[in-house]
Amino acid sequence: MTKLFLLLSALPVLAQQPAAFTKSCVACHGEGGRGSAQGPGLAMNPRVAEKSADEMSAYLQQGNPGAGMPSFSDLSAADMKALTGYLKRINNDTIVGPVTAMEPGINKSSWPEPGPGDWVTYNGDMSGNRYSPHKEIRTSNVVGLKLKWVFPIAHFGLEATPLAADGVLYVTGPNQVYALDATNGNPLWHYSRPQTQGLAGDAKLGTNKGVALRKNKVFFETDNAHLLALDRATGKLLWEKELAERHQPPYGGTVAPLIVDDMVIVGIAGGDHGIRGFLSAYHADTGELAWKHWTVPAKGEPGIETWKGSEPVGGGGATWLTGSYDASTSTLYWATGNPWPDSDDRDRPGDNLYTNSVIALDVKTGNQKWYYQFTPHDLKDRDATEPNVLVDTTYGGKPMKLLLHADRNGFFYVLDRTTGKVLMAKPFIKRVDWAKEIGADGRPVVIDPKGCPADAANWDSTAYSPTTRQYYLIALEECTGKPTGYPNQTGQRYLRAINIDTGAIEWEVPQPGPARAKTWSGVLATAGGLVFYGQPNGGFTAVDQKTGKVLWQFPTNVRMKGSPMTFMMGGHQFVAVAAGPMILCFGL
Ligand code: HEC
Repeated sequence: MTKLFLLLSALPVLAQQPAAFTKSCVACHGEGGRGSAQGPGLAMNPRVAEKSADEMSAYLQQGNPGAGMPSFSDLSAADMKALTGYLKRINNDTIVGPVTAMEPGINKSSWPEPGPGDWVTYNGDMSGNRYSPHKEIRTSNVVGLKLKWVFPIAHFGLEATPLAADGVLYVTGPNQVYALDATNGNPLWHYSRPQTQGLAGDAKLGTNKGVALRKNKVFFETDNAHLLALDRATGKLLWEKELAERHQPPYGGTVAPLIVDDMVIVGIAGGDHGIRGFLSAYHADTGELAWKHWTVPAKGEPGIETWKGSEPVGGGGATWLTGSYDASTSTLYWATGNPWPDSDDRDRPGDNLYTNSVIALDVKTGNQKWYYQFTPHDLKDRDATEPNVLVDTTYGGKPMKLLLHADRNGFFYVLDRTTGKVLMAKPFIKRVDWAKEIGADGRPVVIDPKGCPADAANWDSTAYSPTTRQYYLIALEECTGKPTGYPNQTGQRYLRAINIDTGAIEWEVPQPGPARAKTWSGVLATAGGLVFYGQPNGGFTAVDQKTGKVLWQFPTNVRMKGSPMTFMMGGHQFVAVAAGPMILCFGL
């Protein structure tokens, strides 16, 4: 009897929700206090955790009606006790950080402009190139790199790249945003709401790639494709916009938004489930829609001639990977995903524009300047949602504005980003037999649309180093899904360095661990001569940019799905990365 009692009382998570909470609080704070659009999460909330029972009951009696929290002055003593006890229980494991400048209520109306040491956008900078100028950590001392702290988020496959600004890291999980003290990982605030039911694909899995940051706001896309603006000091919801109109097919939200001037640019997921893709721009201060650009044309619009079946109302062309931006021409470059249905083309003869493309848009209007389609009429889910890296350099003897892109279809492309013209396209994997080559007109010379490879590259980040003129990426040598005649290739991942002038692979590092492991840890290159990336076996690794020689490794022992970033704080360089359910931060 006693034993059973002990056992039951030790079950921690079954913290029973008191009837008073169900009746009076769930409508706004969600089941289990996990938050909703109407009220903040109360579980794992440091502000709740640090209040005593008396302080909490005073707060509930008073409320904060101006901010939407009603006053509960007529609760019975028993209900009040049940509520304060419950709020304590759902915060048993909440870590309360030291008091910092981020204490809610502090006047933070003016945030400092991002410093050169900050990492303020998904790819660290608008060009999409994950090449950091920092070199405190370099080839000669990386061997001394040590883990400084970890922060767990209750979700196994984190894909976010942390942002760093002003000594704070901003990281995300499924419908979760955390601001962490970058010195020790202590949570400063947490925004959460329960995952949405009835979604499909990656959004259903809780995938999220991170936030965007501008002045006093943090921007986040929820799993059901709502754009949220949160208060940067407190995590409070400031405004919320639903990207897709209601009752439409399963639009999902997974992308890290991109800030351009005073606009938040945000894409959507669901291309494998019959959405019609678009990209939206909202005014950051007001949440007002600036423009919406559809990636798949409607009747009468340019490109519709490439859909020779019925009107492609669910034609795909998702926009779930953060784009890049060239301020000198106000041009936004964004990748689009596969046409839908993925492998059934009976009702979509034609090229199916603008799927599997990079589209160049005027950022002020959303109007398309040009497009380039990597895989016309796709039958093999060849999303072009791989990074588009903008580089200004001398190319073929002339100063050029380039766009570098290693596509899932196995070709590495160098485009003139002012026109979309292909300057070079070379396979970056050994076995490419779906197309013979990319012709002089930029069109692939197709042999068999279902040919190899399967998934040569994906959304994981890539980087170009101006020092070596090499483009770094993780390539997957794999060929699956062939009908007959081609033996399936088991697959092997490689870290590869591509010479951007010749397309030659100058070195490669075969990756240990299962090739089919769903790992998408991208690469980060630094002026310290390093490339950081995660191996399929969970080894977070740094190699020499020039040679690929492994110089440092940290065994995380979990699958890594996030790409690393780096930032400066207090004059020192740090590297942070998501691994499994953890955010890890390293420094010398
Ligand atoms: C009508 C919606 C609504 C209801 C009902 C409601 N709340 Fe709230 N609650 C809010 C909002 C909105 C806030 C944020 C207020 C603010 O920003 O200061 C909040 C804040 C709080 C906070 C402070 C959280 C923080 O992060 O600082 C606590 C604790 C809290 N509520 C508890 C409760 C409890 C317990 C109940 C039920 C007895 C309840 N609330 C009912 C909307 C609601």
